[in-house]
Amino acid sequence: MKIKTAVFPAAGLGTRFLPATKAQPKEMLPLVDKPMIQYVIEEAQKSGIEHVIIITGRGKNSIEDHFDMSYELERNLEEKGKTELLELVQSVSNMITISYVRQKEALGLGHAILCAKHLVGNEPFAVFLGDDIVDADVPCMAQMMKAWDKHQCSIIAVEQVSMEHVSSYGVIAGEKLEDRLYKISDMVEKPKREDAPSDLAIIGRYILTPEIFDILEKTQKGAGGEIQLTDGLRTLLKTQNFYGYQFEGNRYDTGSKMGFLKATVEFALKREDLGPEFREYLKTLDL
Ligand code: G1P
Repeated sequence: MKIKTAVFPAAGLGTRFLPATKAQPKEMLPLVDKPMIQYVIEEAQKSGIEHVIIITGRGKNSIEDHFDMSYELERNLEEKGKTELLELVQSVSNMITISYVRQKEALGLGHAILCAKHLVGNEPFAVFLGDDIVDADVPCMAQMMKAWDKHQCSIIAVEQVSMEHVSSYGVIAGEKLEDRLYKISDMVEKPKREDAPSDLAIIGRYILTPEIFDILEKTQKGAGGEIQLTDGLRTLLKTQNFYGYQFEGNRYDTGSKMGFLKATVEFALKREDLGPEFREYLKTLDL
């Protein structure tokens, strides 16, 4: 069975980026000239996803506007003969089928995923977290889809992180099965360094079987007083095979200011139109 649907939680308050996120969604902050959410939706599309369900909340309307047609702008660009820009703008609204569900209360990531239950139905699905942007030759989710095709069970992306950072992540315990693939035996959300079962952190890409929904309905509040996806996954892995996939590529934690800055600099350097001049500029800085 192919994975065609992806859930994209985007209802968070974005407090780490205040005041920028006071009146604008964190997901719309640009890396160079593209909103962060668009990088992730493009990854979904390149990985074969056909339908994205974005979980939104109050103050997130500009996400819907971004992926919708913009009549005034398009007419203006057309009249002025700005064909390239017109095509760019149209390509965003034609990108992929998107549905929106409102999460009325910020009750946690597990609860946000649960909000998509009625649209996903009884099929395996993907989850993308917008704070993790992965730059890779083969998109991270496409790599995971290959593993799915072979094993047909829940798979989450993992990355080795230094032990001083484990407490910012969900962390897995597992046994290495083959190159890049681990069989997960347990996982814990944001453990203290001394309680972490390994240095393999969960990164925001998941392929999940639909049984997770019934589990999340019964999952109690966990770390931070929120209904945690990791706690639901922990229950799921007691009844099904569950794998961790160590993806190839560079991951940026764009939910943190440092990760956001690193991604901005590196993505700008990679751009044909900006890179050479920006590189020369950086060289002139007295660091
Ligand atoms: C979430 C998950 C966590 C995972 C992280 C990856 O945490 O709960 O397990 O390691 O995303 O970015 P958050 O960053 O939303 O606190």
